[in-house]
Amino acid sequence: MSQRNGFTLWFTGLSGAGKSTLAEALSARMQALAIAHEILDGDVVRTNLSKGLGFSKEDRDTNIRRIGFVAQLLTRNGVPVITAAISPYKAIREECREMIGPDRFIEIHVHAPLETLVERDVKGLYKKAIAGEIKNFTGVSDPYEAPESPHVRVDSSLESVEESLEKIWQHLLERGFIKG
Ligand code: ADX
Repeated sequence: MSQRNGFTLWFTGLSGAGKSTLAEALSARMQALAIAHEILDGDVVRTNLSKGLGFSKEDRDTNIRRIGFVAQLLTRNGVPVITAAISPYKAIREECREMIGPDRFIEIHVHAPLETLVERDVKGLYKKAIAGEIKNFTGVSDPYEAPESPHVRVDSSLESVEESLEKIWQHLLERGFIKG
């Protein structure tokens, strides 16, 4: 019997905003409910499927299209997908939305003010970007086009992971993607 409840939770946001953390938290919740799913994390995808790609607009677009393509394959086979890449360009996110199917593409904006991200600087990259040691760093020296009307917007400077997770979970319940 085929399961037809595929969807893609598309996280977008700056580096360090909390995309991967939230993806992991969501994944744990799904796992606890025995919901088969998959995570496509930018940092991970860039070590295999997108190995060798850099951070020019062209390379980012290629990276995101690849993530979108795999997300589409899984989604159409009923597998919930969580993507966690910056995906800075609106037009490419839009392409992915069309490819996956607008009804099954759920956009989550994972926000935090830049000052907070610079302060956190978990990977030490913002410091380097500000010093000019890393070029074209999203939010510092490269564009980030925030979604205008994401399905859910979370702010990791104001909410705990649990609170953000709850907002996303409620959305999935309301849309019937997950049963209560
Ligand atoms: S995307 O733009 O193609 O969506 P992706 O999410 O895969 O980016 O990778 C972003 C991660 O790569 C960041 O979290 C950071 O660790 C690292 N990184 C290295 N260089 C850059 C850069 N110039 N801009 C943004 N992130 C970078």
